[in-house]
Order: sequence, then structure tokens, then C-alpha cells
Amino acid sequence: MEDLILEMKKIVRTFPGVKALNSVDFHLKKGTVHALMGENGAGKSTLMKCLVGINPPDSGEIILKSKPVTIPNPLTALKHGIAMIYQELNPVAERSVMENIWLGREPTYGRMGFFVNHKKMYEQTKELLADLALDLDPRQKVKELSIAKMQMLEIAKAVSYNADIVVMDEPTSALTPNEVDHLFSMIHKLKRRGVSVIYISHKMDEIFRIADEVTVLRDGNNVVTKPVAEMNIDSLISAMVGRNLTELFPKIECPIGDIKLEVRSLEVPGLLHDISFDLRRGEILGVSGLVGAGRTELMEAVFGLRRKSSGEIFVDGKLVHIDSPVDAIKAGMGFLTEDRRLTGIIPVLSVKVNTVLAHLDGYTGGLGFLQLRRMTKDCVEYKDKLSIKTPTIEAIIQNLSGGNQQKVLVARWLLNNPDILILDEPTRGIDVGAKAEIHSIITKLASEGKSIIMVSSELPEIIGMSDRVMVVCQGRITAILDRKNLDQETIMRYATSINNHAA
Ligand SMILES: Nc1ncnc2c1ncn2[C@@H]1O[C@H](COP(=O)(O)OP(=O)(O)OP(=O)(O)O)[C@@H](O)[C@H]1O
Ligand SMILES: [Mg+2]
Repeated sequence: MEDLILEMKKIVRTFPGVKALNSVDFHLKKGTVHALMGENGAGKSTLMKCLVGINPPDSGEIILKSKPVTIPNPLTALKHGIAMIYQELNPVAERSVMENIWLGREPTYGRMGFFVNHKKMYEQTKELLADLALDLDPRQKVKELSIAKMQMLEIAKAVSYNADIVVMDEPTSALTPNEVDHLFSMIHKLKRRGVSVIYISHKMDEIFRIADEVTVLRDGNNVVTKPVAEMNIDSLISAMVGRNLTELFPKIECPIGDIKLEVRSLEVPGLLHDISFDLRRGEILGVSGLVGAGRTELMEAVFGLRRKSSGEIFVDGKLVHIDSPVDAIKAGMGFLTEDRRLTGIIPVLSVKVNTVLAHLDGYTGGLGFLQLRRMTKDCVEYKDKLSIKTPTIEAIIQNLSGGNQQKVLVARWLLNNPDILILDEPTRGIDVGAKAEIHSIITKLASEGKSIIMVSSELPEIIGMSDRVMVVCQGRITAILDRKNLDQETIMRYATSINNHAA
């Protein structure tokens, strides 16, 4: 019989105005993967932060290897063998990969150990990365890494602590299918060594592939804990949202109009080559590719966040010069960025300000005063539409759960109502219910004649939503596929096509 390595009993945690956890029981068996699921704001991250001492519980018990423990901070958690990979990654960007892994416990010289032994640190890092088959350079600065690589780095760090419990809070939200496979093989390796994993994700298919048991939280309560084998997608979804969802990708075919946006021979030296495509009124153009293929960079170049060495952009047939986001917004574009923490939210400001940020012009009355009442009304409207879970719209956005922060960003660009909307991973970290809601809003916008570019690493989302799909590989467009020719294999073939030709 598998033995319990961890038990959490009657865990309660409140924040001002929110009872995040309402007497939650949870357990973890040795050498297994236990999935933790639930809607945005259900309390998943909070439960795990209770475990690792970031937000110790108000009351309740934590029993580790049959002994009650108190875990006042993350360092104590690590000493107990519990490591967590956070939803909001927080690496030290200026430092290298190896410094991030060994931070605070660097190998040193001599008995006194004043000086860091860089050679030894390099060697240890090499060994660790090789053991996990991770393709990272120990000396590379972390700020140069993609989100996917940062995630891998965090996993390597957890392993380096010899943790016997590893908590992964939405580890795959920024990964493409190949990288997810890689992560899963790492998890299997960990399991074989007797490590237990608590796995938080909104992606249903992953849960059935990787988890042994699943616990669903709803509004701070444990609604079910069961072996995964006794659940299916429908029972899981109804446990999460308390109702049945029928259609996950409600595609409505609508008439496609004239060319709205045309990009011709765009170049960004070293990154993007010979990029040409067009986008029509009422069209949803999906953009697919592996992490690092240049999808985000391409969108940034179109939106004026990246300097292009050549290329032309036409909107409604007219040549426009887009050298900054301001130019892009003037040309009728909106851009929901992929990385909400670096380029998206302003953490210390309210939900309201974060929502209206891109649309302040729209609230300036004749005398230059802001129309606060209308601003509030619109915010409340989108809060309800996207079911953003927050005590009030005046709450500081960084206190919202990850998925709810993402919903605020989606609301920002929906409110701004641009003609051309570029969405980079719009539903990352968003729960199934709200995801369906966002999909139907996107579809509705398209049916109203808006033009949409949607970058997504989730192939079902791309295939379900897009009229055409543009595949990017190593900074080039390798295919633009029509809706009727869409399937996962074809897209993946083009996403890796340049590699294949080279081989
Ligand atoms: N530091 C904080 N201050 C105030 N409220 C908080 C804080 N941290 C979490 N909350 C609130 O606690 C509730 C649970 O949040 P939590 O982050 O645990 O959700 P989650 O299940 O991880 O959701 P998601 O899927 O969106 O990541 C939410 O209502 C959130 O706003
Ligand atoms: Mg969370």
C-alpha cells in the first residue's frame, strides 16, 4: 500500500475580505502525482503557499511523514524537503542559470568558505542539467531565457534540493506540446525516485496523463478527492464549476471581409525573416509554433515594441508607420501580452485602473476630466462578464489569483475595443468556465467585423477557434493553413519543418 507522505487537515486561511481556504483537507501519497484543480480563485495556490510557509494557515494541521510540523517560511519548507515552483516565476534576472540554482548555498573554497567556487558550481550545474536532460547553459543570464526555460530552471532547482515533495503551480502554462512531454518525462523520473508531486493545472488532458489522484477545490472547499481513474473530463469539470459545460470552443463561422492588415517582408535581424501575411475583417488568425519560434517577437514587431530593419505594414490598404505601441494603438491595434508580469499588469494598482489603462482617452470628458462613474460602470460590467473574482474593483491587482489577473488584462483590451486585436496566449492560466467565456467573446468580436490574431500554444484552442492558422518556425512562416486543413499533426509538422529539412 502506498503510504502518506503528507496530510493537511482543516486548513483555514483568510485574507481581508476573502476566506480563501475554508477548512480544507488534503493528502499526498509517496511517489505519486496528485493534481489540484479548481476555478480561478478557488484557493489552489493559497493551499500550497500554506504548505511552503509563504502564507502560513490561520488554523489547521500539517502532518509530514507522520509528524506534525509548523512551516513558517519557504526555507523551512525546503529543509523539510518541500520545494515549490511558483505560478509567478521569480528568478533573479541579472544572474546566471547556475547562480539562480545555488543562490544562498553556493559551493565555496576552503574551510571558511568566503569565496564562491565558480568552477565547482559550473560542474554541479552541468551534472544536474544533464541528469534532467535539460538544454540550458549554466552561464547564461536568466533574463535571456524564455518563460519555458525559466520554468525548466525552477524545476532543476527543486531537484537540486533533493526535495521529496515538489509542488508545481501551473508549470505548463507557457510550454508547447514537446516541452510538456519533456516535463512529463521529468516528472516520471522524479516519481521513480520516490518523489511526490502536487500538480496544479487548468489543462484537463494533462491531468489524465500525469496524475494518480485528483483533488478539486471550489470556493475554498475540497469538493472531491479521488483516484484519477475514477474521474472523467465531464465529472471533473462539473466538480470544478458546479455545472456541465457543453462546448469548449464555440466556433461560429461568420463571413470574412476585406483585408484589414497586411504585413509585407518584415525583417528583424537575427529573429524574424521575410514575414508576410494578411488578416481580414471578421477573421481569427491563429498563430502556432514552438516556444522560441518567434511568435511573440513577431507580434511585438507588428505592434511597434521591436525595431524592424525592413518591411511594410498596411492597415485598410494604407501604409502605416509603426515605431511604437502608441503608433500601433493609433492605427487601431490592441495587444494582450503573453507575460502579464513583465509587460502586462501594474501590480500595485487597483483592478479598476488596470482595466481601464489602455482606454483612458475614452473616459476624458469635454473639459479633460475623467468620467469616473462610467469607468467604474464599465469595469463592473467586465468583472461580471468574465467572472473576475475580486472583493471589489478597488482591490490591488497583485492580490488576485493568477487567472483572475489574466482576466483583467483580457478585459482591458476588450474594453479598448480595437479593430485589430492581437492576443498572445489569451487563456493562459484561465479556468475552463472562464475560458469558454473568453472564447465566445473572441468569436463574437470577430462576428462584429473585428480582426483577431491569436497566438496560442494550445493546439485544441488554435484548431477550435481559428479561420486560418499561421505556423512559425525559427523566425519564418512555414505555413498558412486553412480551417479545413487543420489537425494537430499537420501543424506540428510545419512547426518543426525547418529542423526536419536541416536534418
Ligand atoms: N495575498 C493576498 N491578499 C488578498 N487576497 C488574496 C491573496 N492571495 C490570494 N488571495 C485571494 O484568495 C483567493 C484564492 O486565491 P488563489 O491564488 O489561491 O487561487 P487559485 O486557485 O490559485 O486560482 P488561479 O487558478 O487563478 O491561480 C482569491 O480570491 C484571491 O484573490
Ligand atoms: Mg493560482
